[in-house]
Amino acid sequence: MSGWSHRHLIDLAAFSLEDFTTVLELAQRFRVMPVSGSRKLPALQGRQVTSLFFEPSTRTRSSFELAARRLSADVQSFSPSSSSLSKGESLLDTALTYVAMGADVLVVRHRCAGVPAALARDLDRERRSGGRPVAVLNGGDGLHSHPSQGLLDLFTLARHFAPEQPTPAALSGRTIVIVGDVLHSRVARSNLWALTACGAHVVLCAPPTLLPEAFTQFVAAPPPGQALDPVAQRGTIRIERQLERALPGADAVMTLRLQRERMHEHLLTSLESYHRRFGLSQARLKLCGPTVPVLHPGPVNRGVEMSGDLLDDPERCLVAEQVRNGIPMRMALLYLLAARGDELREA
Ligand code: CP
Repeated sequence: MSGWSHRHLIDLAAFSLEDFTTVLELAQRFRVMPVSGSRKLPALQGRQVTSLFFEPSTRTRSSFELAARRLSADVQSFSPSSSSLSKGESLLDTALTYVAMGADVLVVRHRCAGVPAALARDLDRERRSGGRPVAVLNGGDGLHSHPSQGLLDLFTLARHFAPEQPTPAALSGRTIVIVGDVLHSRVARSNLWALTACGAHVVLCAPPTLLPEAFTQFVAAPPPGQALDPVAQRGTIRIERQLERALPGADAVMTLRLQRERMHEHLLTSLESYHRRFGLSQARLKLCGPTVPVLHPGPVNRGVEMSGDLLDDPERCLVAEQVRNGIPMRMALLYLLAARGDELREA
């Protein structure tokens, strides 16, 4: 793929507009290809994808594994509680064990921000001393980043606005409202990099305990470790504290899970009060146009972030579509990181 230079995928801050175009175009190719069951693509035949998940997951882990299988890769799954980590083996030695077994890609989820990046650095050092090359793909790390979710959300929105040509241009000038627990959300951070890169304007809406004012400046400086932003002109970020002010003018609304496992203080007075003020419902959505879609990365706290009937409304709610799009998007990412030649043309 022309212009693709990433050996690992840790976050979306370093993505150029060309990178977003590449992944969206490739995901669209996989999305419209009828690949399932015995009709697999041979693109990653002989490659091995290993998932190292130190935090629970339903969607990310399963769809990466399904994506890898649809590209004919071998798949290995690691479970920390039954591994030799409990005997004191380090994370790097655990990863190197899978590399010695042939892993070409490690999909890593960890509750601490920075673990996938540190592992990628250590594995690059091993490679420079004669080790095998291996790509690290961040499956979500602490509050930092969840790049494959950010990309599948971008893909879902682009397909909603331009089903035949879901490119970054489909997002340009759109207003996307993100409601909820922005503070604890690695998904929101990845979405902020992705959406603003494509020229979308983001409105964040939550109480101050879940959305510090500093988020308006989230993409204002060059990404960490870079002198310049790889994106010439980004969309804007605005904060509203009331849904009644955030929703009018929205082209799409994304709501985020309240991450109670990461809230160590009492940041909300009650879930009922949160739902009353920030929960989405069919009635609330009358504040925006009748075709404005609702997204949620999942898992959903039904009746908290959104009402059950809204979650179950396929006309309005794209949650199932996000899950479906996760597979071709993850196929695209695995392909970009692990395919060695022009196997896609052989498909
Ligand atoms: N959206 C997401 O990351 O879901 P899982 O935790 O189920 O992987």
